[in-house]
Amino acid sequence: MSRGKAATALDLPRPDTLDAGKQQGAYEALRGAILNRQLPAGSRLPSTRSLAERWLVSRGTLEAAFERLHCEGYVQRVAGSGTRVCAVIPEQFIAAPAPSEAARREVVADQPEAGVQSHVPFVARRPDASLFDLKSWARCISRGLLSVGPGVLEAAHTAGLPALREQIADYLRSYRGMRCEADEVIVTSGIRHALDLIARTLLKPGDTACVEDPGYKPARRLFSLAGAHVQAIAVTAEGLDTAQLPDQARLAYVTPAHQAPLGMTLSVSRRLALLDWAARADAWVVEDDYDSEYNYNSAPLAALKSLDASDRVIYCGSFNKNLFPGLRVGFMVVPKALRPALLRTLQLTGYPVGATDQLGLVEFLGSGAFVRHLRASRQAYQARRDALLACLPEGSRVSGQQAGLHCVLWLPAGVQEQDFCSRAAAVGLTLQPLGKFCSEARLPPAVILGYTALTLAQIRYHGRMLTQLLIAA
Ligand SMILES: Cc1ncc(COP(=O)(O)O)c(C=O)c1O
Repeated sequence: MSRGKAATALDLPRPDTLDAGKQQGAYEALRGAILNRQLPAGSRLPSTRSLAERWLVSRGTLEAAFERLHCEGYVQRVAGSGTRVCAVIPEQFIAAPAPSEAARREVVADQPEAGVQSHVPFVARRPDASLFDLKSWARCISRGLLSVGPGVLEAAHTAGLPALREQIADYLRSYRGMRCEADEVIVTSGIRHALDLIARTLLKPGDTACVEDPGYKPARRLFSLAGAHVQAIAVTAEGLDTAQLPDQARLAYVTPAHQAPLGMTLSVSRRLALLDWAARADAWVVEDDYDSEYNYNSAPLAALKSLDASDRVIYCGSFNKNLFPGLRVGFMVVPKALRPALLRTLQLTGYPVGATDQLGLVEFLGSGAFVRHLRASRQAYQARRDALLACLPEGSRVSGQQAGLHCVLWLPAGVQEQDFCSRAAAVGLTLQPLGKFCSEARLPPAVILGYTALTLAQIRYHGRMLTQLLIAA
């Protein structure tokens, strides 16, 4: 393009954006002219003096706008020959070419998975995120970010930020009776992430992984994905039936605090038997402590990991249940012998949790806000549980209601779980049949009831419907 013929900013009318904020307005007007090619590549911008006269702004304002365009790569400034639009503007470096219209598909709005939404009666195992103090969380994130320099944001902390691991270890020592140190903690995005890491790292095709039956299906699926032979072990009133564990296995997965889904606590004698078995079989025990913060009748038993004298228990915890499900932060406490291998898998998969959430949690735990939230949510959940139990007809049999975020309602003998759930769905109740959690176990009919993500009014209203269904069953 020859010099004098190129369009210059003098051809541009004074932009309206100048009235809102002069420097920003001048920058936006010039950038817009470059992007829509009113100022094509190579064209020369006028001097800040002549443009200032025409646009009725100070030269300093334009100098700052030109400098910003220069820093962002839109213009070149060469002493003695003025300011020119660059041959290639930054948008061409940072944005891929737009897809052609023909290639665009109709966008289907993303819906939360059916059955796992909060405030749907009686969806189970959901916390009530509206009890969470978002303002305090926002302050923690902001304080956390402002308290560190770029070094912390740049460094690779595969196991999680040391300050967060310290806080987690401190919490586990004080509330779960564990003698654990920060260097045993690995930050994950939740319990399923921990199970995935364990499966990828420890299991080879053909290894045996023992799981509870009934039990938490994602654990079974993740172990199967790694090629393991998954062996279902029955659950009795004392929890996992340790007498059924095979002589040889690579690991056993358990939910000792509140069996998922039946809700009993693994007895102390079974805990000791499980640890003995692990030592004999040279196996690992995976402890899923998913909802142990919520106990309504008495203090919780310490974690199984607290009895782990031979360092065989991989403890998995999560903030996704006690804070809010979208947070996606959890943690593991791992035996020393497994730490390097687990960290290698974590690094390879590139899943470590973002620094912003970790820094926010350091503040949230350190300021006492976390424990305050646990106290308040426990109280709210207990009131909701009591309201649900009060709604049920006399003689109803419920179990697992002493702790956690759900309980089991046993249906009258002879009732088909699926039929009952379909009749409930017809009046807007989402119930999970116990059979969905079973592999080989054949148990009397029952459904899982969640109450924590419902208001008291919802529980009373929908509880009456549930009662009518039970009476009619
Ligand atoms: C027994 C059990 N473990 C783990 C989880 C999931 O934890 P996270 O969301 O941290 O992966 C759930 C979720 O309902 C659960 O029921």
